[in-house]
Amino acid sequence: MENAIEDTKLYKAAQEAAERAYAPYSHFRVGAAILLEDGQIITGVNVENRSFGLTNCAERSAIYTAVSAGKKQFLALAVSTPDSNYPVSPCGACRQVLSEFMNAQTPVIFGPNEHSLVHTTVGELYPFDALHELAQA
Ligand code: THU
Repeated sequence: MENAIEDTKLYKAAQEAAERAYAPYSHFRVGAAILLEDGQIITGVNVENRSFGLTNCAERSAIYTAVSAGKKQFLALAVSTPDSNYPVSPCGACRQVLSEFMNAQTPVIFGPNEHSLVHTTVGELYPFDALHELAQA
């Protein structure tokens, strides 16, 4: 992320979103926040279902909300997992979806609280991304 202030603000938005998670089965709340080019922040939460496989992760909820609002230029992503005691990284399915809309350099931060954040990028989470390799060809 550009700077620590932006970083903190984005993570805080993810943290607040996590409180709105619908996780009655796992009791594992997740909040995601995406920073848009215009400075706006769009959030998402995990939405579970009694048919477990239908669960939507917070990261995908945020991306789908943003795209549904006509926004596709994403500068950074923050993910908050307040129910874990260590940083939980985005799942494989979410990494694929992130790579659809974010370039390899896009910063990603995740963690259970603001004191134990992991700072990484979409490219580190999802290397050898064929979509972007093809786009550069
Ligand atoms: N989950 C997310 O929303 N994002 C992640 O990065 C990890 C997992 C959700 C899915 C499920 O509702 C709960 O966390 C437990 O796996």
